[in-house]
Parts: sequence; C-alpha cells; structure tokens
Amino acid sequence: MCGIVGYVGGRQAAPILLDGLKRLEYRGYDSAGIAIHNCRHTNLIKAEGKIKVLEEKLGGAYPEGCAGIGHTRWATHGRPSDVNAHPHTDCTGDFMVVHNGIIENYQELKEWLQSKGHVFKSETDTEVIPHMIEHFYDGDLLEALKKTISRLEGSFALGVISRREPGTIAAARKSSPLIAGLGEGENFIASDIPAILQHTRKVYILEDGEMVKITKDSVEVYDFLGTPVAKSVFEVKWDAVAAERGGYPHFMLKEIHEQPRAFKDTMAGRIFPEKGEIRLDDVHLGKDYLQNLKKIFIVACGTAYHAGMVGKYIIEKLTRIPVEVDIASEFRYRNPMIDKDMLVIIISQSGETADTLAALRESRKQGARVLAVTNVVGSSVSREADDIIYTWAGPEIAVASTKAYSTQLIALDMIALYIARILGTMPDEDAKDIIAAMKKLPDQAKTLLESEDRLKAIGQKISGHQDVFYIGRGLDYPLSLEGALKLKEISYIHAEAYAAGELKHGTLALIEEGVPVIAPVTQEHLFEKTLSNIKEVKAREGYVIAIANDGNEEIKKSVDDVIYIPKTHPILSPVLTVIPMQLLAYYAAVARGCDVDKPRNLAKSVTVE
Ligand code: F6R
Repeated sequence: MCGIVGYVGGRQAAPILLDGLKRLEYRGYDSAGIAIHNCRHTNLIKAEGKIKVLEEKLGGAYPEGCAGIGHTRWATHGRPSDVNAHPHTDCTGDFMVVHNGIIENYQELKEWLQSKGHVFKSETDTEVIPHMIEHFYDGDLLEALKKTISRLEGSFALGVISRREPGTIAAARKSSPLIAGLGEGENFIASDIPAILQHTRKVYILEDGEMVKITKDSVEVYDFLGTPVAKSVFEVKWDAVAAERGGYPHFMLKEIHEQPRAFKDTMAGRIFPEKGEIRLDDVHLGKDYLQNLKKIFIVACGTAYHAGMVGKYIIEKLTRIPVEVDIASEFRYRNPMIDKDMLVIIISQSGETADTLAALRESRKQGARVLAVTNVVGSSVSREADDIIYTWAGPEIAVASTKAYSTQLIALDMIALYIARILGTMPDEDAKDIIAAMKKLPDQAKTLLESEDRLKAIGQKISGHQDVFYIGRGLDYPLSLEGALKLKEISYIHAEAYAAGELKHGTLALIEEGVPVIAPVTQEHLFEKTLSNIKEVKAREGYVIAIANDGNEEIKKSVDDVIYIPKTHPILSPVLTVIPMQLLAYYAAVARGCDVDKPRNLAKSVTVE
C-alpha cells in the first residue's frame, strides 16, 4: 500500500510519474518503482529507498514512452526491497501491476497459479494479480482485470498496463482510494489527488466496485460486472496542501476517518468467523510452548502502552495466563525477572522507539521469546522480534496516534484469541461470537464517525476548561488513560484518568462545579458500580459526559451528555469507544487554536532515551 500514479498521453510519462510520486512522498514509503511503455517494449525500474535512489538508478536518462504506472510502497507482505517494490509482473513480463491494499486470499491464489506453472519472484500478496491477468488475458485487458478481481478477497486500488495493449491503463477500486484524472489528450489514474493536481483539477472519484479504462482520449468507467457507469466530474478546489490531507483540515482528522479501512485491513486474511479461527502468518507459538508459558509481559511507551493495558485485560480473560504490562523506559532498567518460559509482547507503531527497542533486546538477552506488534515493516522492532503482527493501519502522519492505537487493540484481540484457541481456554461458540463481532467493527466505526457534529460541539464545550478527568472501570479504565493522553498532548488541557473506583480515594477533592468528567460505561457488568462513581461527581456539580452502548437509556438520568457507540462484544468496545475520545480531543484542540498535527514538544518517533 501507499501511492499510485498512472499516465497515458502525448508527453513523456517517466517525468510525470516521478513528479507525481514525489508529491505523495509526505505519506511515507520504503521503495518505489515505475513501468514505462513505448511502442516496442516496457521498461521496469524499481528501487528500495527514496525516489532519489530510483532516479540514481535511471542514471539521468528517463526511459522513453508515453504511458506508464508508478508506485511508492509501504510494505505489508514482504520486507522493503527492490524485488518486493511495485510494479509487479507476470511470467512473460507483458503485464505490469501497481496495487494498494491487501489481498486476503493471496496464498490460496498463489498455490493455484503455481500449480499451473507460474513462477513468483517476490514475497508480496500483489504478485498474484499480474499472474492472474496473464492467465485470464484473451485479447482484452479490462476483461482480464474483471475476471481477476472477481476472485480477489480483500482491499485494492489497482493500476495495470500491458505491452499487448499499449496506450491503455486498466484500473479498479475496492476499499482503497483511486481516482481518474481527466486531461486534454492525456489522462491519469492516482491513489491521491496531489499526484496529478498540477496537470488537472477534473477527476472522477471511483467508488468501491468500479473499474476504469483510460487511453489518451477516453476514460470509461464500469462496474465489476462490466456495465458502464455514468460519472460526474469532481472539480478539485483544494490547494496542494489541502489536497495532501484529502480535503481534511488536519492529518489527524483524516486518520481518525481512515479507521474503518484500517480495521478491515488489519483483520484481512486473519479472522475466520465461521470456524472461530485466527490465522497469524508471522506468529509461530506452538501448543507445547504456550502450555509451559508462566507469564506474558507487554512492554511499550505512550499510546502503545495504553493499548498494552487493554491487552492485559483481554489476554488474561481469554487465556488465563498472567500478564504484566510495563512502560519500556522502566522495564529496561528494573532488571525484570524474565526467562525462556515467558513471552514478551512489544508494541510500537514506528518500531523504532529507543526504550521499546532496548526492552526487546533485554528480553531476548534473558532468553524470552518476543512477539512484536508494529505498523512498520522492516522497522528495527520487526527485524529483531521472533514473531510479528503488523497492524496494517497505513502510514500515520499526525504526531498523535489514532488509527495505530485502535489497530493495536485489534492485533491484541487477535493474539488473545489465537492463544486461547490453541490452549482451548474458550469454547468454540464464544470464539465464533467474538470473531463475528470483530468483522462488524469497520462498519460500526463508520456509523460512529457520522455523529461527528455532536462530538465537535462537546469538544468545543470542554475546550475552555483547565482540567478534564476521565473515569472508567474494567476495559474502560485503560481506555480512559488513552483518552486523557490524546486530550493533553494536542490541546494542552490538563487531563487525568482514574479507575472510577479510585476517584473517592483523593482526587474527588478536585471535582467542583462545571469540571468536565468523561465517563465511558461500556462494560455492562460494571455499569452500576461506575454509575455510583458518576453520582459522586454529580453531587459535586461536575459536568459528566458519558460514553455508553446504544440502548442504555438509564445513563441519561445521571449525566449531562451521552455519546452512544454501536453495541459490540464487551472485549471489543475499546476499539469503538476510543473514536469519540479522539474526536473530542481533536475538536477541543482546534477550538483552542492548537497546531493539531504537530503538537509542541512531541515527535512522531522517539529515538532517544
Ligand atoms: C501519542 C503517541 C506516543 C507514542 C509513543 C510510542 O499519541 O503517539 O505516545 O505512542 O511515543 O511510539 P511507538 O508506538 O512508535 O513506539
């Protein structure tokens, strides 16, 4: 996944593609490539690293040709390398493909293609696509693409060129953005508007389930059955900077809105509700090893540490293995008692945080096995761990972590279920229920994001306060810690989170008239208990905003505002509950005029102690 650009027209394609890719550089990537057609052959150039490296490889001479596709890759399947970079080709080299997204059933497709004699070069999921197009091609590129995508499961934005049909690009979209740019005697495809904004402001925004065939003089859109679709032209009014944010005022808001897609990708090819099964390709914890496991440590910093605290509740509940959660900067210096019968789960979005990496090394030195949860393929953490789960959240640009946190929660849910299924600590039916509920999370997150206007109003209300408190019980407690961190790091409002039962042991002294208290009450078995704590706050005239499950009418009687979240399995509710917390923090920060994407004194990746 990352950036796609494609061109057909009367000009040389290579400089247009390279320039388009550079305009997507802000999104982050680990390798890049282009494929250029001229009348006789196709030139394919790929390189690990920055576009500069690709240009150096070209040696100052751009391959000639007026049609081509280009890609910047953010690795998911297979480490960053020249071979794994896109475009990918089939056995004949006739078909070139760039792809954003994740093909869930690529293993099965790869085996099928191998049985037919196809030879694979890369470790990617994408490579099945050019081989399938080669298999289905019978004189019509779009038709071959149509047959191919009918067998793909997962998400994709695809661009394909073929020397058998020079001057044509076929492209398709399912759950990953793609546009067609409309020029004069030239046309484009791109994953993001900035890639082509300097050439045209007229675009078709493709919807899920749409394909497009472009030549220099035509742009034809079809559905996946091949029926023509009439599109209206979208006139881009944004300047280049707004276009980078997809029209959102900040990357943070864009990334909050990307969560439904990020959830889907993170679960892609890993959860199987019908069988109650979890498959984690890069995790190899055998039954014997798990049966002897004395303890699990979860070690991380900041937001990732908060995800770990949620993970503790869930892993202990489902597996009955004791879990200890540690802040990496403490863990590494406290001479922790670790041995080979302990598993250390390291969580790090960037995979480069200095303290977290040191904790990983210390754990391995003492003989423990390390499982890493990270968002960056090829990061130090991913290279040094024994087992890995990637959160396929895509690049996170805003400093405050949002989609990385919620996908870390999903990864931890999957780890808990994976271990519980191997150890047999939960009945089949319970596993099936949880996994079926996981499948619904992307749509539920989408529904939740529709109530943004209310959250904006409440965010503005709390923006004028000096102090905000968060209280919760059970899973709502570690979640409250994350809600408070989000608010303080971007709005600079003092925010504290407490286990709701702890408030009366001192902190209640700080609650007075109008002090905002945010109280998630999603854990129904603890509802009455938290309600008593809310009443303690109300008795001191605090202003309580509850976050409750849909249908909880009772809470309305005791609080000032209620934000409802779609009902899910109780262990999954943090994945949804965090979304209104992120939006409250975001709108409070915006109301205070803060620089939301670049808050003071914070870096995206903390590589110092
Ligand atoms: C807060 C935030 C930080 C990071 C922390 C760890 O929004 O982003 O607290 O969570 O610096 O970073 P990673 O996960 O990259 O190790």
